[in-house]
Amino acid sequence: MSAHKAAKDRVIVFDTTLRDGEQSPGASLTNKEKMEVAKALVSLGVDVIEAGFPIASNDDFEAVKAIGQEVPVKVAGLARCMEKDIARAGEALRKANDPRIHVFLATSAIHRQYKLKKAKDEIVRLSVEGVRQALEYVEDVEFSPEDASRTEPDFLAEVVEAVIEAGASTVNIPDTVGYAMPSEYGALIAYLYANVPNIDRAVISVHCHNDLGLAVANSISAVQNGARQVEVSLNGIGERAGNCSLEEFVMGLKIRKDILGLTTGVNTKRIYPACRLAASLMNLKLQRNKAIVGDNAFAHEAGIHQDGVLKERRTYEIMDPREVGIKESRMVIGKHSGKHAVKKKITELGYSLSDDEVTAITQKVKDLADRKKTIYDADIEALITETVDQDAPPTYSLGSFHVTSGKGLTPTSTVTLMRGGEEIRDAAIGDGPIDAAYNAIDRITGINAKLESYHLDAVTEGREALGQVTVNVKFGKATIQGRGVSTDIVEASVLAYLAAVNRYAALNRAHAKEGARGKKR
Ligand code: KIV
Ligand code: ZN
Repeated sequence: MSAHKAAKDRVIVFDTTLRDGEQSPGASLTNKEKMEVAKALVSLGVDVIEAGFPIASNDDFEAVKAIGQEVPVKVAGLARCMEKDIARAGEALRKANDPRIHVFLATSAIHRQYKLKKAKDEIVRLSVEGVRQALEYVEDVEFSPEDASRTEPDFLAEVVEAVIEAGASTVNIPDTVGYAMPSEYGALIAYLYANVPNIDRAVISVHCHNDLGLAVANSISAVQNGARQVEVSLNGIGERAGNCSLEEFVMGLKIRKDILGLTTGVNTKRIYPACRLAASLMNLKLQRNKAIVGDNAFAHEAGIHQDGVLKERRTYEIMDPREVGIKESRMVIGKHSGKHAVKKKITELGYSLSDDEVTAITQKVKDLADRKKTIYDADIEALITETVDQDAPPTYSLGSFHVTSGKGLTPTSTVTLMRGGEEIRDAAIGDGPIDAAYNAIDRITGINAKLESYHLDAVTEGREALGQVTVNVKFGKATIQGRGVSTDIVEASVLAYLAAVNRYAALNRAHAKEGARGKKR
């Protein structure tokens, strides 16, 4: 759809992640990364990508140039109302598929007096000249009266009328410093519709900053009053507290279509991957409770909520996580979790335990959660093993081991394990004595295991110190921890590995037991 002619009910999404967003401290991107974000924005379905401020740096110039030629959507380059800025933006966009120059000049009294030192008539003249100059390079020109929300409304109306007359097809009304209140900002848009005679010849856009946390609310208020382009950014990144967040604005329109009656062209299922990509490239740690894309946005820990969601998702969720590209709601297992959620988690992990076993594990989860902030799947598996296999002896116990290593020698180990009274021995070589012993154990058990991490600590002082080894071993998809203690660090290492192997074997037994139970039913 042409960004010039907004349909009555369709809001144009103008994304400024790569301009206002990239301007934010610590968020800078290489041009290759900007291209990646631009492609994610295209697949998200935004209408306009503001790719940079070409006069600001060579990198910005090159980014606008490359993105403009590569992507199939409209690409805007920012410029002050100055000949050299506009010429640079024009040059960057010369071969763009669908170019727009976005010119801006501040209009508020405070900017006129202190920053620009210019009178009102001079501001109008420069704004009109800026639009006319930009039209020499491209057909599509947007004008922004910077700090519009703090500009005298009658003067703002005069500027808006003049730039539309000069040929601007989009006029943006920025709340540059995030000062406006939703009702006031909506009223300003309504005022412009009532007082600018040629307003129907342009799309009215809004660009809200989030200094008071109102950027999304203000943007929604603006579209309720006739604005049909909204300037947004992924994760709300932008100068200071940021801009209107794309994901919050778009989902607000979608979820409350009943009262807003407006749509966008955004494929909401692409929201989560795009936001996560931008956050990771921009080194931005998203707050856990960030609406739509934060880790907790679809996570439930309270027992009452978990129970409700398990019975009917909509009891505590206003949108389906799949609508924004998140696979499913997350039940966070913690001290507030109830038996229903713990049972669901146990089932997801592949077990189907008796009611008594689930009750016992739920209690253990709560006890553990008092001591530990995050309960991982591995913790729950350990509790399952402990509960289900409490009295069972370990599958393997260490009979003996022998290692040889030294300068010029290939590290070799012979290990004897006991399994149900049977003695099984094997030997292997390795990159070191411990690796050789682990390889020998793998040969005996026939289990495909991969050492993920190895950690050695001295638990007591002196030369006879007890060594404690902690290993994380990967068996298929599961990572299992094992610990071993001995004054001999090779023995501690062997015991740690064996402990992980035994936990894995116990888990497998629990699975197998469950399989047999399932078959009997
Ligand atoms: O916040 C602002 O006013 C801007 C303009 C350049 C649109 O970013
Ligand atoms: Zn801005």
